[in-house]
Amino acid sequence: MDIFEAMRQHGHEQVIFNFDEATGLKAIIAIHNTTLGPALGGCRMRAYDTEDEAVLDALRLSQGMTYKSAAAGLDYGGGKAVIIGNPATDKSEGMFRALGRFLETLGGRFVTGEDVGTDGDDFVYASRETDYLVGLPPGYGGSGDSGDLTALGVVQAIRAGFQHAFGDPSPAGHRVVVQGLGKVGRHVVRRLVEAGAEVLVADIDPQTVGTVTAQYGVEPLDPWSVVETPCDVFSPCALGNVVTPDTVGRFQCRIIAGSANNQLSEEAMGDLLRARGILYAPDFIANAGGLLQMADERRGYRAERAEHRIEGIFEFLLTLYRESDERQVATNRLALTLVEERLSLYHRIHRIWADGVSHTR
Ligand code: NAI
Repeated sequence: MDIFEAMRQHGHEQVIFNFDEATGLKAIIAIHNTTLGPALGGCRMRAYDTEDEAVLDALRLSQGMTYKSAAAGLDYGGGKAVIIGNPATDKSEGMFRALGRFLETLGGRFVTGEDVGTDGDDFVYASRETDYLVGLPPGYGGSGDSGDLTALGVVQAIRAGFQHAFGDPSPAGHRVVVQGLGKVGRHVVRRLVEAGAEVLVADIDPQTVGTVTAQYGVEPLDPWSVVETPCDVFSPCALGNVVTPDTVGRFQCRIIAGSANNQLSEEAMGDLLRARGILYAPDFIANAGGLLQMADERRGYRAERAEHRIEGIFEFLLTLYRESDERQVATNRLALTLVEERLSLYHRIHRIWADGVSHTR
């Protein structure tokens, strides 16, 4: 692939290839945009079929992090790391320590932590080589797994949807379908059941479905026809590309709000959802809870402060939904406009020279 052309197209600043033969580390770090501050984003590990696929994933995900940080009002930029390898068989202490040393060479330009395929324990090894990490287990001074606070943000997005669509934010009595019952989805289920919603669940892993249905008394659905289930909310908490030209006409819901990244196969899907009267919570806003937790950790973690900011997703989205109606523009497009406005504001502010101003707050 033509990497520079791909960087030009999506506005990336830097792509770093990190290789350590001794430990088998092959990691790509993509830094998309540092207008707002140092790049922050997770480190994914996956057995990519090709190196191009890994580079593209890093480019795509790091761009998403710029949007997520900007929309969340954080002074962080967007970056992402990917490790090429099988998370089940290829991990080692050496690999993550080597990654830690490479992170150290970036001097804080990029801060990372767990993502799909990695967990906090992996970064305990990396933390022996660098401090540019987030999401370490609480025993190591970190804030721990971000699944639950990401779920808090998703539920706030759902409540904002209820408020906008039905005039009352309470999930009680509403039917919600949760797709994907992993680190985030199972907490979305728990929080919604506690709030009195009728929850239906789907996952491709039958064991996970068994555990969650038994634990919360919710009903399972066939994961392959889940989008057609009549419900008030469809909550995608598995993988991206959920709203595609194939599926967009099949949803039988009033609201889509979930944690999965890149839920729309293309921005035009947002227009089609709007035309169908389906309220869409832009993914990078609904799923910002984990990022807000991680950003808080960089200041010395305070759970109350992080939760308070995550609860703010409710008001933020409510305003976005209203403006989307007033301006008659899809929510995803409006969210992107807000991001552009924030980046441009910072460009202007940075013209003012101030010696020693701490960048990240
Ligand atoms: P996870 O890997 O723990 O869980 C994903 C679950 O989805 C698994 O149980 C898997 O079996 C299931 N799944 C996969 N394909 C499916 C399909 N076609 N239908 C139904 N279920 C399917 O991942 P996690 O951490 O729960 O994240 C879920 C999504 O949220 C991902 O897209 C992730 O990128 C995103 N996200 C996660 C954050 C976090 O803090 N963990 C933060 C922001 C976004």
